[in-house]
Formats: sequence, structure tokens, C-alpha cells
Amino acid sequence: MKLFIDTGSVAEVEEIARWGVLAGATTNPSLLAKEDGSPEEIIRRIADLVDGPTSAEVVSEDADGMVAEGVALRGLHEHIVVKVPFSAAGLEATSRLRELGHPVNMTLVFSAPQAILAAEAGATYISSFLGRLDDIGVDSTETTREIVEAVAANSTGAQVLAASIRNPIHVTVSAALGADVATVPGKILRQMLKHPLTESGIAQFTSDWQSRPEFATWLH
Ligand code: E4P
Repeated sequence: MKLFIDTGSVAEVEEIARWGVLAGATTNPSLLAKEDGSPEEIIRRIADLVDGPTSAEVVSEDADGMVAEGVALRGLHEHIVVKVPFSAAGLEATSRLRELGHPVNMTLVFSAPQAILAAEAGATYISSFLGRLDDIGVDSTETTREIVEAVAANSTGAQVLAASIRNPIHVTVSAALGADVATVPGKILRQMLKHPLTESGIAQFTSDWQSRPEFATWLH
């Protein structure tokens, strides 16, 4: 499973891209609205930093507007994937953008029937939301399993992108279920670094090594 970063923060992408684990990024209007500066410039900089698919979302609610915004977003950077919210108009826009050769990430998908429609409309990525399902008491694991199975059986080549990731368990569950990508906020990526045995192990190695002062010149 590939990892994308889910953010509107250039500084966060600068920090985490250095780890060498990011294959792409996703943004959304809410994430970009929290940042200073022009959304176009932020999207360009994130796309440069991750050097991979970078989703940028349309905000129109009609198909013509979505297509026009999608084409404009694609002009910002070669890595842009047009993010289109799920709706009848979104399906029409996805199908039209696909015909024009533009990749689409269909977002706000919460069920296997929605995912089947998104795949048939030609979405490259189908954003299957976990956290927002948990928020309303729906089992996100079961829904993600159904979406992964439905999209695989559909054989359009669409990829399931696990989104609305709220904790590291969402990431491991998505990987175990066969999601193609998980888009993960920086805060959760940092949580994924941590294990108390890793931290205590490093401290022990360091202190054992420093107990031998003659090793101070090792490899120098
Ligand atoms: C990503 O593409 C989605 O917009 C994002 O994961 C939504 O996350 P949230 O439900 O935590 O806002």
C-alpha cells in the first residue's frame, strides 16, 4: 500500500517528504482554508515536494463548473489529480474529465455502491473515508472491505484510496484489507514512528556505546 500525505501545509510536507515514504499527497478545501497564502501556490509546492500524484479539489457543484475547475487545476502542475466530490454531477464531471485525459480522485465515498459508480465513471482513485464513518457509528473496517472487494471485482483499474484516517490503526487496517493507497495526516504519520521499545532500545544502544570512551573515534 502506498502512502500519501493528507495536508494543506507545505511545511509539513517539507518535513515528512524527507523520510522517503511519500508517494503523493491529497488536499481538500478545508485543509487549504487553514493555511496562509494562495491555494494555487500551496498546491504547486506540495506537488513538487512529493513528486507524485497530488489531489486538488473542485468546489463547483455542477458538472460544467467541476470540469472547468478540473481543467484549470490540471494546468497548475503535471502531478495534479482532480478531486471531485461524489454526486450525480460529480460522476458526470469524472466521466468528462476522464474523456479529456485528466485523472480523477472521486472523494466522499462511503459505500460499495457509490464506489462501483465512481469506478464505472472512470475515477483513477476512489477515496473511501474511514474516520467519518466511525464518527457516525458505522463500522469503517467492514465498509472499507466491501469497497476494496467491489472495486477489485469491477476491474476498471480504479485504486482504492483510504481517506479520513484518524489513527495508525486505520492505516494498518487499510493495508490489511488491500487498499491501494492511504492518505494520512502528518500528525498520524508522526504517531506511526513511535514505539516505546524503539525509543528505549536506541537509548540503551547509545548508553552502552558511550560506556566505551575509546570508541569515540569509531568511523572518524
Ligand atoms: C482526503 O482526501 C480527505 O479529504 C480527508 O482524508 C478527509 O479527512 P477528514 O475526514 O479527517 O476531514
